[in-house]
Amino acid sequence: MLQRIGIVGGTGKFGRGIGARLAIAGVSVALASRDAARGREAGAALAEECGGEVTGGDASVLDEVDAVILAVPFDGLEANLQAVAGHVEDRIVVSAVNPMAFDDIGPYPVTVPEGSAAALVADRLAGARVVSAFHSVASRTLGELERPMDDDVPVFGDIDEDVAAVVGLIDRIDGCRGVAAGPLRLSHVAESLTPVLISVNRRYRAHVGFAFTRLSTD
Ligand SMILES: NC(=O)c1ccc[n+]([C@@H]2O[C@H](COP(=O)([O-])OP(=O)(O)OC[C@H]3O[C@@H](n4cnc5c(N)ncnc54)[C@H](OP(=O)(O)O)[C@@H]3O)[C@@H](O)[C@H]2O)c1
Repeated sequence: MLQRIGIVGGTGKFGRGIGARLAIAGVSVALASRDAARGREAGAALAEECGGEVTGGDASVLDEVDAVILAVPFDGLEANLQAVAGHVEDRIVVSAVNPMAFDDIGPYPVTVPEGSAAALVADRLAGARVVSAFHSVASRTLGELERPMDDDVPVFGDIDEDVAAVVGLIDRIDGCRGVAAGPLRLSHVAESLTPVLISVNRRYRAHVGFAFTRLSTD
């Protein structure tokens, strides 16, 4: 069971939100930042807010965790991968990164030469075991801690035990269900779904989540 989770970009909107939900679920969380002081402050603030076991610092906090969630913008992904490369050897690294941009029409997926953000991560972090998840889990929904989540979370990966471990982690979050959704090469589908969800939110003034209907995983 994954019990200690590091979050790269844990100072950001998604990182703080998923960190809070995991901490409330009893998971130990370490928020990693490019700036150690910012990471420590974010960790202390989150610990106070949600009462769980949360710390923070620079990439060295990743040395003590069981798995790492990548929660940085696609624009900053390469730089962050260089910073964490020495701290994630033979570790599960979960990419939550959505390569997307906005123009006058709205959000749209950015084409990644490697095929997906997760595939890029796997290419750059050759020694890590890359899994892909969380793309459709909105930071705003995560941050409303008084409300349970209501989200299915597709999980992609090429090593069955690693996918099962991440599904198990997601299942610990109240209202979330992890779903093993296929190999890593399908990650681009979930990464590209996020602009669609944002478009729906804009059109209907909603905060939608994603769900597989008629799926029993019990
Ligand atoms: N927001 C959501 O609802 C959501 C949902 C699912 C998935 N995601 C994905 O999660 C990732 C993070 O999203 P977010 O909304 O949390 O982003 P964010 O708040 O803009 O950034 C997260 C953290 O990444 C670091 N960062 C920001 N810009 C950077 C840059 N140019 N270069 C390097 N590092 C940078 C910062 O941490 P430090 O300065 O402390 O290092 C920042 O606090 C994205 O890939 C997004 O697609 C987001």
